[in-house]
Amino acid sequence: LQRHLVTGESTMLNRVFEITALHRSGYEFPIELAIVPIKKTGDDFYCAFIRDITERKREGERLRESYEEIRRLASHLQDVREEERLIISREIHDQLGQQLTIMKMDINWLKKRTMLAVNDATKEKMDELNLMMDDMIKTVRKIATDLRPSLLDDLGLGAALEWHLSEFEKRAGIDVHYEGLPQELPLSVTIKTGLFRIVQESLTNVARYAKAKKVLVTLKHIDDILSLTIRDDGVGFDPAELATKKSFGIVGMRERSAMMSGKYSILSSPGQGTTVKVIVPLLIESELK
Ligand SMILES: Nc1ncnc2c1ncn2[C@@H]1O[C@H](COP(=O)(O)OP(=O)(O)OP(=O)(O)O)[C@@H](O)[C@H]1O
Ligand SMILES: [Mg+2]
Repeated sequence: LQRHLVTGESTMLNRVFEITALHRSGYEFPIELAIVPIKKTGDDFYCAFIRDITERKREGERLRESYEEIRRLASHLQDVREEERLIISREIHDQLGQQLTIMKMDINWLKKRTMLAVNDATKEKMDELNLMMDDMIKTVRKIATDLRPSLLDDLGLGAALEWHLSEFEKRAGIDVHYEGLPQELPLSVTIKTGLFRIVQESLTNVARYAKAKKVLVTLKHIDDILSLTIRDDGVGFDPAELATKKSFGIVGMRERSAMMSGKYSILSSPGQGTTVKVIVPLLIESELK
């Protein structure tokens, strides 16, 4: 105020700022302070507004804590879901898959043993059974891989992406171009799974909404950053409208990126296609599982 009186300048006036105040009884508490100069003929007046914001600060803190808690819960549920998928996928593949293979071998055994004793209709039935078993084995494999591609755990993200993209290309009839890493990186389970699921969800969106002809997926490693993009040449949309939608795909991808200490962004406008971009730092990976 002194400076203002002398020079007419001040960094404190006409602004609202938060400072710590000392209570009469000795403890400190947060306040909001605003000082306004009032010019009256000849005299300088200052009007100060002081508001105790202890409660507001506390509320803010509580809100932040509960948001953090929900975030941790979401991330935990995500992990549990992934673990369950892995277990179910292994069970289906190893147990059911093996039993079916044994059954198929038994049918062949029966066929050979009864070759001369049975009539044509029975032989035909056995051939039908054999073909059915082949289909069932394929279906079981497909269910297991869709739950969790073993490639992801056995060979790595690049291999799993290549497989998924070629399946998508066949199923959706959309041209997919993939530019991957020159070699597999030793990635944490969180990052491998996170990026794979983001590609899956983004491609599901492309197939559902984009009416695209082409999709370009790139995975790049620049310094200590892994960067993933999924770009389509489809109809695009206005991201501003997302707030009003009750959908969880993009929300989930954003959360997954946060779980990897990464950043998710989606760029789109009507008629301009859509680009999903995720960047993940690799340095702090040792802190992740
Ligand atoms: N590649 C895309 N091309 C065009 N529109 C898209 C694309 N990706 C997302 N969108 C739009 O963004 C919206 C939100 O996508 P999001 O994945 O969050 O939810 P959803 O697919 O509608 O539902 P959910 O994923 O929860 O089943 C979609 O409804 C769609 O309108
Ligand atoms: Mg979706």
